[in-house]
Amino acid sequence: MIPVSKDIQLKAVTIQDCTQLYKLMQMIYPPAYHHFWTDKGAWYVDGLYNKENIHNELKETSTGYYFVLFKKEVVGILRVLWDAINEHLAYKKSAKLHRIYLHQKAQGNSIGKNLLTWVEHTAREKGCETLWLEAMDTQEQAFEFYKKAGYVPFNRFDLDFPLLIDKHRGLTQVYKEL
Ligand SMILES: CC(C)(COP(=O)(O)OP(=O)(O)OC[C@H]1O[C@@H](n2cnc3c(N)ncnc32)[C@H](O)[C@@H]1OP(=O)(O)O)[C@@H](O)C(=O)NCCC(=O)NCCS
Repeated sequence: MIPVSKDIQLKAVTIQDCTQLYKLMQMIYPPAYHHFWTDKGAWYVDGLYNKENIHNELKETSTGYYFVLFKKEVVGILRVLWDAINEHLAYKKSAKLHRIYLHQKAQGNSIGKNLLTWVEHTAREKGCETLWLEAMDTQEQAFEFYKKAGYVPFNRFDLDFPLLIDKHRGLTQVYKEL
């Protein structure tokens, strides 16, 4: 268990946790993103949180995949790539915040802010000069959150997943110097 603050801990995801992770994301993803997809996001959740993909992601080197615990209860997930160069950023070593998802009931309690601070601090300790991530253009909540934390856009593109609704295809990459 990794302590982030008094009430927040991270627990590493293992291959034994596939079912728990899948069920958790079936609960967390749709309330935030169902309106982005013609199938309410089922294809996306099945594609990323099936056993095979979780196994593959756990095998990737220089990554961290965690359950987020708040007051000892699992309320979300966090995944970080600790060595993720971006071709548009002129830094020698960068980290990427790959996924941060909190259950609706846990949002707005500064958990996200604490997690982001922990990721930035840990990335800096690992020698990273910058942290970057991707967020859907039309997910205002996430954008406000990153903007408040000092992240600035540097690139954008459209996703071509067939089941994504056209007005929600835009993805923006943002970064912050550490
Ligand atoms: C986005 C998310 C990670 C933010 O975490 P959180 O714990 O809810 O946010 P926090 O309580 O730490 O808020 C931090 C700051 O962002 C601001 N913020 C958060 N949500 C906001 C919103 N909807 N509108 C405006 N500001 C918002 C807060 O006001 C707070 O500002 P403050 O520091 O001045 O108090 C979380 O809400 C979440 O998981 N959402 C659903 C999934 C998602 O979109 N993930 C991001 C994928 S890129």
